[in-house]
Amino acid sequence: MKILVNSRQMKQCDKNTIERFGVPSLVLMERAALSTAEEIDRYFQVNQGQGTVLSPAKKTDRFFQVSQQQGTALTTVEEPGRQLCKNHRKKLSVLAVCGFGNNGGDGLAIGRLLWQRGYEVTIVMPSESGKLSEETKIQKEILCNYGLEITDSMPEGEFDVVIDALFGIGLTRNLEGAYREYITEMNEKSGLKVAADIPSGIHADTGEVMGVGFRADVTVTFAFAKPGLLLYPGAEYAGKVLVKDIGIDACSFLEAKPNLFAAESEDLMRIPRRKNHSNKGSYGKVLTAAGHKNMAGAAFLSGKASYLTGAGLVRIFTEEQNRVILQELLPEAILTTWEGTEVLEETLSEALFWGTVIAVGPGLGTEKNAGKIIELILKKAKVPVILDADGLNVISDHLKWLKEAAAPVIVTPHLGEMARLTKKSISDIQKNLLQAAQEFAEEYQVICILKDAGTITALPDGRAYINTSGNHGMATAGSGDVLTGILAGLVAQGMAPWEAAFTGVYLHGAAAEKQVQQTGTYGMMARDILDGIKMVLKEK
Ligand code: ACO
Repeated sequence: MKILVNSRQMKQCDKNTIERFGVPSLVLMERAALSTAEEIDRYFQVNQGQGTVLSPAKKTDRFFQVSQQQGTALTTVEEPGRQLCKNHRKKLSVLAVCGFGNNGGDGLAIGRLLWQRGYEVTIVMPSESGKLSEETKIQKEILCNYGLEITDSMPEGEFDVVIDALFGIGLTRNLEGAYREYITEMNEKSGLKVAADIPSGIHADTGEVMGVGFRADVTVTFAFAKPGLLLYPGAEYAGKVLVKDIGIDACSFLEAKPNLFAAESEDLMRIPRRKNHSNKGSYGKVLTAAGHKNMAGAAFLSGKASYLTGAGLVRIFTEEQNRVILQELLPEAILTTWEGTEVLEETLSEALFWGTVIAVGPGLGTEKNAGKIIELILKKAKVPVILDADGLNVISDHLKWLKEAAAPVIVTPHLGEMARLTKKSISDIQKNLLQAAQEFAEEYQVICILKDAGTITALPDGRAYINTSGNHGMATAGSGDVLTGILAGLVAQGMAPWEAAFTGVYLHGAAAEKQVQQTGTYGMMARDILDGIKMVLKEK
């Protein structure tokens, strides 16, 4: 898991590093610029002196950290004060478009450093720019001292590299006028597109496009990744994200604590190890209350996912009509069935005290019995409850049940379910997914997994985790049932619900990534994700 920072936190970390620890702002800026210039060099490898430009790394691989030491070195000094890239037969051309804030200052310094490395650099800065920040003013002076010129008109023609340094985390409103035109023209150019810190037009906290956004191949972000680089649509605009160390670290939070994180592959190591001296009782019992008639599949997918994640025993509480099919599909599961209403309460109450964790909702329907099952579970359960699908539809009219729950509850809404739960429109929720999940978690004191392309796990104490695994093949029926089963399987094995929540979400996405080689994204079905779980856990 890696720390993420929103714009307010990043500004505070910047300020603390500068004022409390005494690192000059220009040093930070220079390091940010140097790390970006080095990354650009890295993408241009010379093929036998032919000056061949290799394409950037795959866009799909969009989140990882690169240390300062890994930068490519093109260090041959050919002229005093100016390094020439000896191997490049033709000079690579760079367009750097810079704003008047400190992001613009980063851009000016990147342009200068690339020019010093032998690139042909054109720098554009809008004439209607407001007052230059102090640091940007100095960067502009340095540039002039080297004899580099700045123009305010966007040049025609193509460049090998297009650098966007118009706005960084300081963007507060929609881009209009000249800024809008600049970005549109930059997007139309064909070179390698590099954003400094965050693509201009993307809101650093939400990933929202503020009117128009720069479409980067690579975003070199500084110190910590920003949520807007992982949340959609921002993630789509950011391309591959490189996090560079510029000398601002977690100490710069001072007394405040980071509360935003990215869930990633190393989090899989949180899943408890299997022990030699163990039996099925060592790995927990999952009670899955799922499936009304004609919905046996949801119960099957969820129950099987719990087994594949490592749970010792799964008991499915389902409608009698599902008996035969579930026994055929998942003979390893214990079945307890219900018919009518009389027996329901008695049987369920007994089952409630059997499980180490309860998963409720997949394919349960929204009829009277479903409401009764959910109310009983929420009010009586003493073990963690995972509430999904129809479970969420039912409680959208009974939200007080959530507040009355004695045990920890994980809710797993997709956007439509979240809209029903909060009585807000999907588009309102989409404007700030992070906030929507955090508010719900805090108000109802539950763990809220808001499912989307960048799924968010929000905890009642304000911490939140953005997921970095998965693909669009997961947008298929039953995928959510599999996630519910995974979460239950992890809690059954002793993981704390908060930790199981974001780890389970990561595992779910990683399972789909494993399967995509075989199925592609069009052909992926929920049962393929089941197969992926096995492979991911085998390799962890
Ligand atoms: N249209 C026009 N102007 C806008 C718009 C818009 N849609 N949205 C915001 N602005 C203005 C803001 O009002 C602000 O101007 P103001 O300062 O006059 O009020 C300006 O754009 C902010 O621009 P940014 O360059 O995005 O923000 P900032 O100056 O805060 O810099 C930063 C961001 C620090 C460069 C960050 O993105 C970054 O790259 N950080 C890492 C590296 C670094 O250089 N750190 C140290 C720099 S020094 C320091 O932070 C003090």
